[in-house]
Amino acid sequence: MKPQIFAISNHKGGVAKTSTTVNLGAGLALMKRRVLLVDLDPQGNLSHSFGIKEAEPSMYNALKGQCPIPEVPIIDNLWLAPSNMNLSGAELELSMEPGRENLLKRLLLKTQNDYDYIFCDCPPSLGLMTVNALNAAEKVLIPLQAHYLASQGLAKLMEIIDKVKERLNPELSIGGIIITMYKKNTVLSRDVVEFTNSRFADLVFDTKIRDNISIAEAPASGQDIFRYSKNSLGAIDYSHLCMEFFNRFEK
Ligand SMILES: Nc1ncnc2c1ncn2[C@@H]1O[C@H](COP(=O)(O)OP(=O)(O)O)[C@@H](O)[C@H]1O
Ligand SMILES: [Mg+2]
Repeated sequence: MKPQIFAISNHKGGVAKTSTTVNLGAGLALMKRRVLLVDLDPQGNLSHSFGIKEAEPSMYNALKGQCPIPEVPIIDNLWLAPSNMNLSGAELELSMEPGRENLLKRLLLKTQNDYDYIFCDCPPSLGLMTVNALNAAEKVLIPLQAHYLASQGLAKLMEIIDKVKERLNPELSIGGIIITMYKKNTVLSRDVVEFTNSRFADLVFDTKIRDNISIAEAPASGQDIFRYSKNSLGAIDYSHLCMEFFNRFEK
């Protein structure tokens, strides 16, 4: 069966794109779904979150046409296509290539393993990597930090999504908005939730990912939240998100 491909995107940095990619991916793998996580950020935070540094080959080599997508096994049912700083050069190097927006989509058709879900962790920009992810994906998941002004930048992202949909990928739609770093009982968090619900209604996941230190600590140990601290609020929230994701998207 064809995998369902998701872009995890928001051009604002620090909104939990990478944390959500790691923990949604790991949670679904624990539910016995076969999952590939693709690191499209030259900062390589997704790769570092699993203790992978200096990966060779990386997504850079794959996008340059030098090799297939690298599929590094992480835990049962979970694989990672790692990235590193080399990727920062790719945007410029590929800028004259014909079909440059199609590179990821084509590569994902030829993975070695069969996947149920593929998640592409986008960088904090709306450049070529993000466009490649939006072009390859069926759905976009948008993490939104429950903080001041977090929701203000969304218009720009929606504009890009609309353009990609119109010009490259008519199948693309918004799969959902995930409120992250939610602080219970604060006016700020409540305001962001209210605004997002009023603007995006059913697209907003019921599960809010609360602010939880274990989520921030886990990457230093190279582990997802379920291995790092399975009883933490973070593990509880991400497992709820996995259930909700599953109900929304499992075919
Ligand atoms: N729910 C959370 N509670 C506390 N810290 C979090 C939470 N989610 C993410 N973080 C931390 O916030 C920072 C930014 O998250 P990250 O996933 O790297 O965002 P992005 O990929 O959007 O830049 C990281 O240090 C991460 O560990
Ligand atoms: Mg990131």
